[in-house]
Amino acid sequence: MAIRTALTEAFGLEYPIVSAPMGWVSGGRLAAAVSNAGGLGLVAGAYGDPVWLQPQLELVQAEAKRPWGVGLITWAAPPASLELALHYRPAADFLSFGDPGKYAQLIKAVGCTLICQVQEVESARQAVAAGADIVVAQGSEAGGHAGVRATLPLVPAVVDAVAPVPVLAAGGIADGRGLAAALMLGAQGALLGTRFYAAAESLGHEQARGRLVAASAGDTVRSHVFDIVRDFYPWPEPYVARALHNRFVDRWHGREPELQGALTEETPAYWRARDEGDVDVAAVFAGECVDLIRAVEPAAELVRQIGGEAEALLRGGPELLA
Ligand SMILES: Cc1cc2nc3c(=O)[nH]c(=O)nc-3n(C[C@H](O)[C@H](O)[C@H](O)COP(=O)(O)O)c2cc1C
Repeated sequence: MAIRTALTEAFGLEYPIVSAPMGWVSGGRLAAAVSNAGGLGLVAGAYGDPVWLQPQLELVQAEAKRPWGVGLITWAAPPASLELALHYRPAADFLSFGDPGKYAQLIKAVGCTLICQVQEVESARQAVAAGADIVVAQGSEAGGHAGVRATLPLVPAVVDAVAPVPVLAAGGIADGRGLAAALMLGAQGALLGTRFYAAAESLGHEQARGRLVAASAGDTVRSHVFDIVRDFYPWPEPYVARALHNRFVDRWHGREPELQGALTEETPAYWRARDEGDVDVAAVFAGECVDLIRAVEPAAELVRQIGGEAEALLRGGPELLA
């Protein structure tokens, strides 16, 4: 039993579930576990650091028995990181946040499927014009960086705008109900980030995963403070990151100019906290779907649970009809 959509057909998946390429979280082990369970696992290329990325690509290549992919932050990742990623022959390359035109042809020239994550209807049209094979419509409920539109109205609008190009929904989906709803909106699958952050194979710090399990959506906040303190990530407008509220947010959110003036001390302290798993200071990027996360579970189990629950709901659909 499985679910069949344009996404599952494209990659031979059991379920139309993609794990998001989350910086420092989605390593090769997580991506391979998702792919081997019948979803599509993506390794995070993030800002393009080859020292982090290369061993993760080695790992996914060694462990994945089914197609996998890699994601890059378009405005930040240099051409060398794309070349490195393509060298490992991913089935899909995922570009998010910025104009995919600069890398689209390189990706397609090697026969790799181009997946573009967008936050607006117009950017979806531009991604398709640039060559996107699959578009991900990301709502602002998402963990990490996102735009301003909400998933529920954005997804069908993007579906209409780019038909017949397949669309995936992202932002706020963590269980089979969300996946089934995404399919009803016309999406061909869903991209899940926060839910897989709290997977056993994620590279997220144990403390961070503990916070995810304990948190609720009201604990999340959209703020620039973590981008400011991390200093070398000058995120362009309109992207804002959603993370769990913590002591660092309490101290600096709303006082961004003062934080900017205190970076000599705050930036090294931030990286130390990140390395030590001090989540009172370090960011735990998380979306509104944290309400639905109550345990750290193996990724394969999550794929089966979420896929199986969506399948059961879809089979029960006719019961709703009079
Ligand atoms: C911890 C974390 C890190 C993320 N890092 C990235 C990233 O490096 N590149 C990217 O394209 N998206 C990143 N995202 C956003 C995801 O691609 C995706 O849109 C989002 O997680 C979907 O919403 P959800 O968290 O509600 O499932 C990140 C999300 C999280 C939670």
